Amino acid sequence: MAKAKTAFFCTNCGAESPKWLGRCPACGAWNSFVEEIIKRPGVTHHDLSTQQLPVHIDEITSSNFSRIVTGNQEFDRVLGGGFVPGSLVLIGGEPGIGKSTLLLQIALCLKNIKVLYVSGEESDQQIRMRADRIAIKGSSCFILTETLLEDILAQAQTIQPHLIIIDSIQTLQTQTLDASAGTVSQVRECAAQLQRLAKTRNIPVVLIGHITKDGLLAGPKILEHMVDAVLQFEGDRHHGYRILRASKNRFGSASELGIFEMQAGGLREVNNPSEILRSQHNRDVSGVAIAAGMEGIRPMLIEVQALAGVPVYSTPQRSATGFDQRRLNMLLAVLEKRLGFRLSARDVFLNVAGGIRIEDPAADLAVVASIISSLEDIPISHEICFAGEIGLSGEIRPVSRLEARIAEAARLGFQQIFVSRFALKGIENLHPDIKVSALERLDEMIAGIFG
Ligand code: TYD
Ligand code: MG
Repeated sequence: MAKAKTAFFCTNCGAESPKWLGRCPACGAWNSFVEEIIKRPGVTHHDLSTQQLPVHIDEITSSNFSRIVTGNQEFDRVLGGGFVPGSLVLIGGEPGIGKSTLLLQIALCLKNIKVLYVSGEESDQQIRMRADRIAIKGSSCFILTETLLEDILAQAQTIQPHLIIIDSIQTLQTQTLDASAGTVSQVRECAAQLQRLAKTRNIPVVLIGHITKDGLLAGPKILEHMVDAVLQFEGDRHHGYRILRASKNRFGSASELGIFEMQAGGLREVNNPSEILRSQHNRDVSGVAIAAGMEGIRPMLIEVQALAGVPVYSTPQRSATGFDQRRLNMLLAVLEKRLGFRLSARDVFLNVAGGIRIEDPAADLAVVASIISSLEDIPISHEICFAGEIGLSGEIRPVSRLEARIAEAARLGFQQIFVSRFALKGIENLHPDIKVSALERLDEMIAGIFG
């Protein structure tokens, strides 16, 4: 195949060069040059016969907008109700988190839909072994182990699949570029060609992309603007729970989220997120508090554990797992300055149960309660939960969707929930089964629980 005409551009200032340069002579940035196609072989511009003509918006029918429903409720919800034909979906996540497992499972679930699963990472046998573990029979899934984009497009032409899964975009390579697989130019060009395939054949194409913590691999970041939906698959690799989060979705809500549990036989859907709490022991121990959190639009009760200990080293340690470390530092500063707790002379460790990461500010109140509980060594009753954000002056601030949180806490048998007084405005009928304690300031909560 004839090579495309390419040039190198600085991603920082846009300077052009015929060769790759380590340092941009124009702006001085290091390692900023990427290869870009400037002329494709065989493509002549201004060919009016193949161009699209403008159509009046009323004349466009939305009839071919029937989504492909996978039957996996958690996955469908995150997509906004299944795959939209012609869409390009990117699923990103750290290596080993379970992206291949998730997508193979989805491919096997789809019964009357022909799926082409392209793997550039594993052999046919390895994929077969994985499929045997997942143990779903009767699918119409085809496996292709190939990394050359042109061959993949040719196979897609022959097989005529209704859905294509690419595992992963970083292993693909097009002959039109000299750069090796995984480089910015290859990733972008392959994704662009697959997008063209998705749009012309009107089928969904799913791209799997690896993200590394240091962002070394060229990848998903540069694709985010060109795809229709970006889903993140995350979780703690040492725990079973995985969260699929939509961070962009042109055909659905971007605040949706699906929860799965990795088991020996594939990923199980977790339809009732509060079950993550089940590990909870009924004995009251100090340092444990329950947050009535929200993940996406679903209420979820999450256990927060804290340990405030005597420091081993001269500088006290602060560490948070599943919670923002800076937010923890801020909460500790509020406790120290506004309430006089001597936390600067303590090690503080915080852990969120189940390997879940909370981003909901409503967890603040439970975090503070667990820290004080550990510091004072007074357990909090396991029938109490918390939902409130904490401000710098120690005030308890309202949180979103309080009614849903209260209802979920009541459903799970909690007897009392601590919330912000300001959050109750506009809520007429409080839940009859749970005592709602409305507070204005942190010291009221401390007086109420720890006496
Ligand atoms: P994988 O899908 O290969 O991750 P990724 O594609 O994101 O790199 O998942 C790998 C992990 O999942 C691996 O540690 C094994 C585990 N796993 C199970 O626990 N149960 C299963 O049924 C399967 C297929 C994998
Ligand atoms: Mg994989």
